[in-house]
Amino acid sequence: MKHLISLDDLDAADIAGLLSTADHMVEVLGRPQPKVPALRTKTVCSLFFEDSTRTRLSFETAAKRLSAETLTFTASSSSVNKGESLRDTVDTLAAMGVDVFVVRHKTAGLPLSITRWCDARVVNAGDGAHQHPTQGLLDAFTLSRALGRGNDLSGIRVAMVGDIRHSRVARSTVRALHVLGASVTLVAPASLLPAAFVGAPTVPAGWPVEVSHNLDDLIGDIDVLYLLRMQRERMDNAFISSPGEYSAHFGLTEARLARMKKGSVLMHPGPMNHGIEVAVDLDTLADPGVTNLITRQVTNGIAVRMSVLFTLLGAGSEAIDGQ
Ligand code: NCD
Repeated sequence: MKHLISLDDLDAADIAGLLSTADHMVEVLGRPQPKVPALRTKTVCSLFFEDSTRTRLSFETAAKRLSAETLTFTASSSSVNKGESLRDTVDTLAAMGVDVFVVRHKTAGLPLSITRWCDARVVNAGDGAHQHPTQGLLDAFTLSRALGRGNDLSGIRVAMVGDIRHSRVARSTVRALHVLGASVTLVAPASLLPAAFVGAPTVPAGWPVEVSHNLDDLIGDIDVLYLLRMQRERMDNAFISSPGEYSAHFGLTEARLARMKKGSVLMHPGPMNHGIEVAVDLDTLADPGVTNLITRQVTNGIAVRMSVLFTLLGAGSEAIDGQ
């Protein structure tokens, strides 16, 4: 594995390997001194052209826990504002000796282009509505470990609800959960499904899912409710009539929470829109026996990104065993 651009590039063994290395990283993070020298000689540069809280900080924390040097590039305070091209920006940073670029950009395919521009490794941290591979991995990791299932999610029923059309998380997480054996149903109004679904007689190729337009039909049967945010910044049109109407049909309301199975779990990649997709007080989930995994997703993001950086930069496994 030289780069991590899309989970479609990884097979089941690659994904299982990354998740198993993440188990090792969880153990590292539980030590009194949660840091190993594995990437001491490496430089990780986060190259973010879009807003981010958790993903950027999670990657930077992961790099620091592996003792890498970190560089942070933020477009809003850079020479991009003086008209510098993306290619020149990458060349400039690469000339400083970057080993891996962690890239977020609104254009699908940009991280792949960067792999052709320089010798550094590239990790896609979200490109347009294409892919967000580390989110897919951390979701699969969080769910499988919370359910005590190792790398096997067979028999687990997941409803992924919301703005699938604009969601790179959906594309990556569906792939990761499917590879581990889970069954995923996309639940959304037709306007929030990818264009290829609209009017198609069958589910388009590349989407190992079922589709429903009615959350109430399945809320009582699922093991996992995975909610997505309305990606307004990626919308060029009115895709829903109103946030209130969306919430009434597709949000987690008190009535729907009451119907969820005991032992089922709630997931969300963040950032959350309280009152829209999440229309309940999250502190009340325990009453019907639903486990909130949202914070665990964030925490596990560090171990999973450590696993990705460590795997890409090819250090020997003995390096994470040493204190
Ligand atoms: C997601 C993203 O940016 O794609 N956030 C994240 O990385 N956790 C989802 C979103 O923006 O809604």
